[in-house]
Amino acid sequence: MKELRVGMVGYGFMGRTHSNAYKRLTDFFPVQHKPVLKAVCARDAEKAKAFAENWGYERIETNWKKLVEADDIDLIDIGSPNNTHKAIALAAAANGKMIVCEKPLAMSVKEAEEMVKAVEKAKVPNMVWFNYRRVPSIALAKQLVDEGRIGKAFHYRATYLQDWTISEDLPQGGPGLWRLDSKVAGSGVTGDLLAHSIDTAMWLNGAITRVVAKTATFIKQRTHVVSGKTESVKIDDACMFLAEFANGSMGTFESTRYARGRKNFNTFELNGADGSVYFDLEEPEYLQYFEYKNPGTGKKIDSHVTGWRKIHTTNSEHPYMNRYWVPGTCIGYEHTFLNALADFVMGIESGNPTQPDFRNALQTQRVCDAVLESARKGSWVKTGVKL
Ligand SMILES: NC(=O)c1ccc[n+]([C@@H]2O[C@H](COP(=O)([O-])OP(=O)(O)OC[C@H]3O[C@@H](n4cnc5c(N)ncnc54)[C@H](O)[C@@H]3O)[C@@H](O)[C@H]2O)c1
Repeated sequence: MKELRVGMVGYGFMGRTHSNAYKRLTDFFPVQHKPVLKAVCARDAEKAKAFAENWGYERIETNWKKLVEADDIDLIDIGSPNNTHKAIALAAAANGKMIVCEKPLAMSVKEAEEMVKAVEKAKVPNMVWFNYRRVPSIALAKQLVDEGRIGKAFHYRATYLQDWTISEDLPQGGPGLWRLDSKVAGSGVTGDLLAHSIDTAMWLNGAITRVVAKTATFIKQRTHVVSGKTESVKIDDACMFLAEFANGSMGTFESTRYARGRKNFNTFELNGADGSVYFDLEEPEYLQYFEYKNPGTGKKIDSHVTGWRKIHTTNSEHPYMNRYWVPGTCIGYEHTFLNALADFVMGIESGNPTQPDFRNALQTQRVCDAVLESARKGSWVKTGVKL
């Protein structure tokens, strides 16, 4: 076993999901690298120490610049807010570290392009944690598309809804509410939620070539946690956009943090000539599939037995599931990060790098930027995506 010595930036939500993945990797996957939790970095030393003790990191750093220069670290994991991704990634690449970075890759296409250039120049393995690709049901949807079961695609429909920012009293900014502060988050639901929907959509259905979007900011001013002053809210609270795909199909995307009752409602449906798939993250262990024509026989399914099939994605033949329990037993949200890490490490070991890497995530960034530009202009915008 070789060591994979990890330097983790951030001890928040993603710091926890990623740390869990490092700790469990070799228990579930036959890889040749064993992660060693070397150091966690965050600005608050006391909190970083408590996190390090809880998760088993050997030491802490309070400045990521020291972390990326450390000789005893192979991989830098960027689990801090969006405005920190670029600087950390550029420095980590310059120091020859492997990099796994949270989404959205960057604050803008310009930043993302610099990051792609840096990792490609340094030839360091890299990945962006678009973890929903690693939900077994979503990976099964990809398999069905690749097997030709959907046929010519016509429609792609995605929603990503939450409700946690409805209160007018909610402040913006600071450690807990940086997602509402455009200087830290870059954008609102577009970069935070739709980036996931776009990544999944382009993985399943190919390049998005043009978009037209409408955004809304429902609450215009909020108290800023750091300044204590009332400041304008500059993020998009909600965003809807229409999309054209290179394969000729049409897409609709909707995201908001104002859908009362919706906590993390992430769904998509793809309709083709020969079949359809539907996924809902609130029932992640199911993929719904409508089979109209069997690609093996080329024959239409008899009409009297057609219907939506709710596939319980827990058989050992389903993506990732042979690594876990017996058929009929499900896995959880945290396993999507474990599956992503396993793919990354197996990619390093096989010499066949896993996706999405920085270059692939740059394409999602292009769509996010085009969506925001379209919302500003009120017209269609080309994305320039190259897959
Ligand atoms: N893949 C997913 O599904 C998913 C889910 C949530 C968040 N994210 C992404 O992960 C990133 C972090 O989000 P989160 O929810 O974990 O946030 P969080 O607020 O829970 O944690 C952020 C962490 O970053 C640290 N941090 C902030 N600035 C720093 C700096 N300059 N140097 C070092 N540490 C710093 C904070 O102390 C905190 O520990 C964001 O880019 C977000 O978009 C991805």
